[in-house]
Amino acid sequence: MLPPISRVPVKLVTWFEQNARDLPWRRSNDPYAVWVSEIMLQQTQVATVIPYFERWMRAFPTVQSFAAAPREGTLKLWEGLGYYTRVANAQRAAGEIVAKHGGRFPSKFEDILALPGIGRYTAGAISSIAFGQPRPILDGNVIRVLTRLFAIAGDPREKSVNARLWELAEKLVSTKGIDPSKLNQALMELGALVCLPRQPQCDKCPVRGYCVAFRDGKVAMYPATAKRESATQRRFIALVVKEQGKFLVRRRADGVVNAGLWEFPNLEIPVTTKNPMSLAAPFEITSAAPFLSFRHSITRYRILLEAFHATRPEGTKSDGVWKTMSQMKRLPFTAAHGRILKAVGALLVNKASSK
Ligand code: ADE
Repeated sequence: MLPPISRVPVKLVTWFEQNARDLPWRRSNDPYAVWVSEIMLQQTQVATVIPYFERWMRAFPTVQSFAAAPREGTLKLWEGLGYYTRVANAQRAAGEIVAKHGGRFPSKFEDILALPGIGRYTAGAISSIAFGQPRPILDGNVIRVLTRLFAIAGDPREKSVNARLWELAEKLVSTKGIDPSKLNQALMELGALVCLPRQPQCDKCPVRGYCVAFRDGKVAMYPATAKRESATQRRFIALVVKEQGKFLVRRRADGVVNAGLWEFPNLEIPVTTKNPMSLAAPFEITSAAPFLSFRHSITRYRILLEAFHATRPEGTKSDGVWKTMSQMKRLPFTAAHGRILKAVGALLVNKASSK
């Protein structure tokens, strides 16, 4: 028999009070700051987010300043965080807060949930952390904690299992006398620091004595997430074309991955291509080998990207615009093409210094 779970919330909160990391967004309950941090943290690790969050709050300290900011400026500050549709959605939400709520972040759960880019998790996080309301949250960390603590079998993405987890999260956060902000953050924090996916630190866990998976020696079996689709290999070549001191670049269209970000002309080629040189039309590759080649991942794709110097035969038209190095540096590039830009910049510096 396990002890009654009614002790779980207070154990979690006490542990959080003593072990919470000092994170910049924890220093205020400003709903705008909480919202920005939650959007950034959706797909990105805490350590990566910290400097982005601090730069962002300096540049756009209020909903109003964000709503009025030029798109390119917001993307530049987000550059490297990925999942750029988050920025466009968030800016639409900021516009709505200004237009419909007089510039004050709404405190009603339903109003928060109605904003673009805000789902049940983010609405719950803002309601509880900024406004102290007993609204549940459920993300990857919390799913891990709850499936283990209560031995919830089945794939947590499956509807009935997911509903059961939301119920448990709601029950915990609604405990009488418990601070909803601390309870929710304790669940996140326990998942991030102790109840880890592969090497759970059960010896440090404040609720080990209540954990069904621990009691049964089955912590590693939870969560029973079904395997995702396996990774797919892809290969791209990127072309660095320079004419009269300017480089050909283009802005990615709306509605595609990395929409609105900049890149060099590029194309996908078969993974097994022996000689990519022949596939660059209408451009002509001028270097015998790529000057930069690296692998990166987007969602389930494992991409090999090779960058070549190339020329544009006279008379051929090409999509894109011509920009100098210093103009390019001010544009938000995709993470991968930002690496190419850096390499091109370094080559220019070397050339200049060897003259
Ligand atoms: N992950 C998601 N939200 C978080 C938060 N507020 N603090 C730390 N990690 C998080």
